Amino acid sequence: PVTRDYYWVVTNFTAAPDGVTRTVLGINHSLGSDNLIEANLGDRIRVHVTNGLNVPTSIHWHGLFQYGSNIMDGPSGVTQCPIPAGHSFIYDFVVNQSGSYWWHSHYRAQYVDGLRGPMIIHGPQDHTKYSYAAEQTIQLADWYHSVSEDLLAGYLYPGSDGAEPVPDSILINGHGIYDCKYAAPNQRCQPQNPASVMARFVVQPSMTYRFRVISTSAFTAYNFSIDNHQLTIIETDGVDVVPYTVDRITVNNGQRYSVLVTMSARGPNAYIRAIALYNAPWTASANSAGYNTNGAAILQYSGQPVPPLPATVMPKKFVDFNQMLVKSLPAAAAPSKVDHNVPISFFFDTVAPDTIQRAYVSFNYDSSNAHTFQKPNPAILYSLLHDNVNPANLSPNLNIVQLAAGESVQLQIINYDGGEHPWHLHGHTFWIMGQGQANDTSQIPTTFPATQANPPRRDVITLAPCQLTETDDCAPNSFGYTVLRFVADNPGVWFFHCHIEWHVEAGLDMVFVEALPQLKKAQGMLPASYTSMCA
Ligand code: C2O
Repeated sequence: PVTRDYYWVVTNFTAAPDGVTRTVLGINHSLGSDNLIEANLGDRIRVHVTNGLNVPTSIHWHGLFQYGSNIMDGPSGVTQCPIPAGHSFIYDFVVNQSGSYWWHSHYRAQYVDGLRGPMIIHGPQDHTKYSYAAEQTIQLADWYHSVSEDLLAGYLYPGSDGAEPVPDSILINGHGIYDCKYAAPNQRCQPQNPASVMARFVVQPSMTYRFRVISTSAFTAYNFSIDNHQLTIIETDGVDVVPYTVDRITVNNGQRYSVLVTMSARGPNAYIRAIALYNAPWTASANSAGYNTNGAAILQYSGQPVPPLPATVMPKKFVDFNQMLVKSLPAAAAPSKVDHNVPISFFFDTVAPDTIQRAYVSFNYDSSNAHTFQKPNPAILYSLLHDNVNPANLSPNLNIVQLAAGESVQLQIINYDGGEHPWHLHGHTFWIMGQGQANDTSQIPTTFPATQANPPRRDVITLAPCQLTETDDCAPNSFGYTVLRFVADNPGVWFFHCHIEWHVEAGLDMVFVEALPQLKKAQGMLPASYTSMCA
């Protein structure tokens, strides 16, 4: 193992990843998507972050357990006070997981402005477990033409209707296409030739590649596919899985898939597609080829010219992805007995006095006990470790659930909303025990004999929505449920939240304070570089 140092100045600058010029955030004046962190299992990573903005920032390493290094996890207000403007902080941790990850700002909605990128950890077994000749990373990102603070202001204001900001285009590895005829008069838009601006993945005929598909999106979920090529899933969110072959996969915010793709003997070139799952208004700006506001890239057989490209979308009959069919490799049984059951429900509401739409989380099914997460100052971890505050004395608006060391935890999550919500747990992967729709909590299953042996495991789960009526409302009493389990084997303060970035800021968040006595014992002295950010 080696130590890998990265020297990052977080900067703002102008860029036009889809042809429209705007202010973006990035690293050393380049977009986050160009700033790959790559290491081998066991390496130590040190990212020397200097905040060159005039607002605070913090960086999270999405999917890394940070075992023994909870203070490096990154969510501001939760594990750290954000890095003040002009200050520096060194994120310093050892990676003891292989797989596909990503990093992103965890301050306000900054990652929507481009402060996000890939993180790949190679394992010694990667090539013995699966057979592939080379690998490439495919980053999916939704993109807006306004800065995130303006978008937030247009979402969370008194009397708001709660409609989330909708992306203007989709980027693949930092490249997208926008049709300038839809640009606003005050926008600088450079018309582009799609074939020359789309990301290209150059491949050799007959070879098998590992593509790491990483969604760094803030709002949009996708159907991901490659025309005329099947995808064999071998990894979900850092968990190696039994090869599972499909024609397309659904990829939600923060999720990662490694897929093996075998090239044909002679092509032809193909579109790589990330079709936005929601039929949202932005489809109106698609051009006649229909590929510009849904993400597209080119799989280019070496030596074959681009264009022409075939116009295929999906085969007439295709194998669709079913999350419940994913199995870990090696098998990992879910805990059969539950030590601590945590019912969680949530909903959106506008309440007096400020009538701002917010998300509310409750730990029973009673909405009168619900709280909207409000980012604390100082950070929760700092209060617990530095100020020795008892978690029971922290604000109920932090939605804290305490866990005992080593216990097996079951989350029964109830979604009273008609939308899907991709929830992400820091510091862990969980087992997905079951999902469905119901209209009485007694209908939520508590035993899962069929899936107990080796259920799917990952760190972002798309929660089932309620049953929708024809008018797009929830049917009376209907809700979606999802049952997850994990083991409290990682002492720390761990954020658990919807990974729709707008919903993070609307308060759709909660926190596990896990094994606090053990955490206190293990942490020792907090470094001055950490405590000074809270001063
Ligand atoms: Cu990508 Cu709180 O996480």
